[in-house]
Amino acid sequence: MNKRIYKLGVIGLGEGRSIISAALQSERWDLVNVCDINEEMCKLRRDEFGFRRYTLSYEEMLQDSEIDVIAIYTPDQLHGRHIQMALEAGKHVIVTKPMLHSLEEANGLLRVWKASGKYVFVGQSSRFFEPMLHQREDFLAGRHGEVDTVETFYIADSRWFLQKDWSRQRGFSWLYNFMIHAVDLAKWYLPEIEEVFGYGHSSSSNRAYGLTTPDTMRFVMKDKEGRIAQVAGSYTKPTLQHIDPGISCTLRGTKGTSRAVYSNLLYHTHFPPEKPVTHSFEEKFPYYFRFEGTSHHAGEYQNYIEYFADCLDKGETPKPDLMEGIHTLSILTAMERSMESGNPVKVNDVMKEFGLES
Ligand SMILES: NC(=O)c1ccc[n+]([C@@H]2O[C@H](COP(=O)([O-])OP(=O)(O)OC[C@H]3O[C@@H](n4cnc5c(N)ncnc54)[C@H](O)[C@@H]3O)[C@@H](O)[C@H]2O)c1
Repeated sequence: MNKRIYKLGVIGLGEGRSIISAALQSERWDLVNVCDINEEMCKLRRDEFGFRRYTLSYEEMLQDSEIDVIAIYTPDQLHGRHIQMALEAGKHVIVTKPMLHSLEEANGLLRVWKASGKYVFVGQSSRFFEPMLHQREDFLAGRHGEVDTVETFYIADSRWFLQKDWSRQRGFSWLYNFMIHAVDLAKWYLPEIEEVFGYGHSSSSNRAYGLTTPDTMRFVMKDKEGRIAQVAGSYTKPTLQHIDPGISCTLRGTKGTSRAVYSNLLYHTHFPPEKPVTHSFEEKFPYYFRFEGTSHHAGEYQNYIEYFADCLDKGETPKPDLMEGIHTLSILTAMERSMESGNPVKVNDVMKEFGLES
């Protein structure tokens, strides 16, 4: 099959840095333009990556008929508007998580998306991390047997994130911005989660930043067959850095169990009669973490834009797509409702409330 080269425009040059690096290192992508309202940020990236162009105007970038795909890394509260504008300009979209900051925008976006005939791909980066990719391969090969329990975690001291203005404004929540990684992994293995129940608490460290939405959450979820997911998140307290996994996903099945772990790129498996094994992908550290520290992780973006290009070549829908993104947001909304009411909440009831059940 012919491998086409796709032309990319990027908006939001904080985390957008990772996809810039990915596009520049890819044989499948040409980076055509980048956009940020902060000119200092544009200049910083221009000098870092040595490209010529940038623009402060999203409209101008969208008018460029050369661009096939827009990648969106603006603050959560702006994703809905920025996706909509890109679709209306006839572009495919890659949008970082969360696709939207509220389900209220979902119906309007659905209408625009249907009229556009374009793809919307949600950059759920954790799916594209090395240990998670190996776990998925083993799952699809049936090595776990029947999986009936999934445990996912995203536990980190992420108070640094609250230095960003928009993270202390309405529309930001730890659930939508951070815990979505753990929820998405659970949903990847149990796509038909129908009911959720959990508790959330806002700690004094969280309140010190003026946030009232919970920073500590524990949930159980079940799918249509009664399979169970356990999902946990904590974001403003010191962690046991040397043993806490950051993000992790454990699958327990009739034939075997595995755990993919973010920190240290580890993948633990036990598929009897094999003995338990720990697979380390530490040698890939420089591929995943290309910049200072580990807060940017461009390798995942590299993996997902190569995958996105392959999907475009084949005319296949890249996953998670807009519909899956809306289902994940419905699960998050059900989680919010459960924390507020102290009761289990059905995901379908939330979808009905927002006119999304069909
Ligand atoms: N694992 C992941 O996939 C991952 C990791 C980190 C961040 N993110 C996501 O990336 C998004 C941005 O996060 P961040 O950490 O880079 O935030 P940030 O505040 O560091 O960067 C956002 C950038 O968007 C720019 N911006 C704001 N409004 C704009 C507008 N109207 N037009 C053009 N540019 C605009 C800002 O000037 C800023 O440079 C968030 O949605 C976040 O969830 C995803």
